[in-house]
Amino acid sequence: MTERPVVLVTGGADGIGRGIVEVLADRGWKVIVNDLNADKTAKVAATVNGLPLVADITEDAAKLIEDAVKSAGRLDGLVNNAGVIVRAPLDAIEPAQIDRAFDINLRAMMLLSKEALPHLSKSGGSIVNLASIAAVAPQNTGGVYSATKAGVVAYTRQAAVEWGHKNVRVNAIGPGMIRTAMAEVIYQDAELYEKRRAMVPLGRIGTPEEIGSVAAFLLSDDAKYVSGQTIMVDGGFSHTLISHLPQPEPD
Ligand SMILES: NC(=O)c1ccc[n+]([C@@H]2O[C@H](COP(=O)([O-])OP(=O)(O)OC[C@H]3O[C@@H](n4cnc5c(N)ncnc54)[C@H](O)[C@@H]3O)[C@@H](O)[C@H]2O)c1
Repeated sequence: MTERPVVLVTGGADGIGRGIVEVLADRGWKVIVNDLNADKTAKVAATVNGLPLVADITEDAAKLIEDAVKSAGRLDGLVNNAGVIVRAPLDAIEPAQIDRAFDINLRAMMLLSKEALPHLSKSGGSIVNLASIAAVAPQNTGGVYSATKAGVVAYTRQAAVEWGHKNVRVNAIGPGMIRTAMAEVIYQDAELYEKRRAMVPLGRIGTPEEIGSVAAFLLSDDAKYVSGQTIMVDGGFSHTLISHLPQPEPD
């Protein structure tokens, strides 16, 4: 390919999305940065010589993808990153909270991917969806979030099977604890931060760029026989369950 491949990153103006945008731009991608806030989106797009696309992903998926393809002329990758955490115990959850979580975290992903499919099929491109370790491990007051993210993992597998013959790969990333605005209330508390950090086998909280480099791998030809997978990027944290059990002293 002589021209730069083009990728659309939703929620790309902050947090993990921004890390993904920066790593992909570094690796030679032309990045279309989607987000809600016009100033932030324009700033991030300018820093990577990319293209801003201000839109709410829940509103009109066909128009969003049409605008993206019009602005860059082609589409080789889609990173469905935008997501929200909705906190509510399941016995007190409101219908509007369920709708918001599913609309942003799963429904928009499904409609954007559907609209992007013909373009990705033409270019032999691929999709990366943002799941979470919460897809496989319940968390206090995060029930609806976990359900949406389990949906992302199932949707990723399903789309990989349905779209493989169209030459489109679909994979997901399940971040663990990554320092972004989404979880900043936790990380501003020094004691909480330290307790969380100490629970990660690799001994630290992750960075948005560490999600970006896995997205770059999944979008690249290095992963050209990988489809339907969710890679947990969590420093090993999601495998620590049994290690928290009290054990007898070794002989
Ligand atoms: N931070 C973590 O520890 C963590 C862990 C697991 C999974 N994730 C997932 O990673 C993804 C990114 O999370 P983050 O921590 O960077 O979040 P964040 O809140 O820091 O950033 C999310 C970005 O998405 C944008 N966004 C939200 N709703 C949107 C909409 N309707 N249309 C367009 N843009 C929208 C926001 O404006 C924001 O810029 C999410 O899907 C999240 O569920 C994050």
